[in-house]
Amino acid sequence: MKILAIESSCDETAAAVVEDGRFVLSSVIASQVEEHRLYGGVVPEIASRRHAEAIVPVVSRSLGEAGLTLKDIDALAVTYAPGLIGALLVGVNFAKGLSLATGLPLIPTHHLRSHIASNYISNKELKPPFLCLVVSGGHSHIVLVNDYTDMKIIGRTRDDAAGEAFDKAARTMGMSYPGGIELDRVAEDGDPLAFRLPRPVVHDAPYDFSFSGLKTAVINLIHNSAQKGVELNKADVCASFRYAVVDCLVTNFLKAARDNNMKRLVIAGGVSANSLLRRTLTTECEKLGYELYMPDKSLCGDNAAMVGAQAYYEYLSGNIAGSDLNAYATKSIEEG
Ligand code: KG4
Ligand code: ZN
Repeated sequence: MKILAIESSCDETAAAVVEDGRFVLSSVIASQVEEHRLYGGVVPEIASRRHAEAIVPVVSRSLGEAGLTLKDIDALAVTYAPGLIGALLVGVNFAKGLSLATGLPLIPTHHLRSHIASNYISNKELKPPFLCLVVSGGHSHIVLVNDYTDMKIIGRTRDDAAGEAFDKAARTMGMSYPGGIELDRVAEDGDPLAFRLPRPVVHDAPYDFSFSGLKTAVINLIHNSAQKGVELNKADVCASFRYAVVDCLVTNFLKAARDNNMKRLVIAGGVSANSLLRRTLTTECEKLGYELYMPDKSLCGDNAAMVGAQAYYEYLSGNIAGSDLNAYATKSIEEG
């Protein structure tokens, strides 16, 4: 089954053709990041306008690169939640129009479920059940994936998402948006033990995260040193901060795995590209005898191939949208 998938939840307009949830026939991404960088973050109104301009050429290219026409497509899929509402609406309305014009069924797909599904492309043998750490710019969840479309959140962030914390710390160090990737790169040359940063714990919920105190601690460290005229080693600050975030993520994730007797672990979302997170989990899972699955780095960020992958399983479970499909800025991964 060939699905033409569309993604426009944030600042990437993307389209892909995916076969049977696992095989990517094409994947096109038009990123707006250079423009948003001028403002230090995503400007929702600009994002919507750029999606509206890019969506037709991006969808056409994805068909062209797959060597297909709409006649070869069996279903359409679109990200309908969560994300920037104006941005989502561009994709949803375009997909609804295309569905009406072609008669193809339209599969509504949840953005975070799609991030998880990026793993089905990179790891063809992976099947639920598994425990997934979903870490992106907007969310940090530990999710029990009982089946492809049956999920339960058992841990979540109480404040900032991991990606958001990386981006804000990076910004304080003068790195341009989104700074998480650059912080990760600079951290490779630093000493993770140079600065002691807190490891916030949420006492009544052992799998929950809290990153805002950690973010404030690193911002205070930088500002206090600047006031005293002390120059900090940037690589050491990056390495210490990255170590603290990854330590919190890995500690809770492994605790959740142990308590729930889950030995198959998966990571997903933009932050799953983080080098230290990938290395630490690889080492820990080897020691514990757990299976670990990660998406290829090229599939960690927003793309439409992952939408096409999840959509296949949504379709199999009977999830088809009517012409009243709407977009939602927030919606739980459990509701799908
Ligand atoms: O999943 P994603 O592409 O978009 C959302 O759905 O939010 O995640 C983007 C986030 C950004 O905060 C970005 O800085 C972060 O993922 N990110 C990283 C790395 N690569 C991307 N954070 C830490 N280390 C990385 N290597
Ligand atoms: Zn995302």
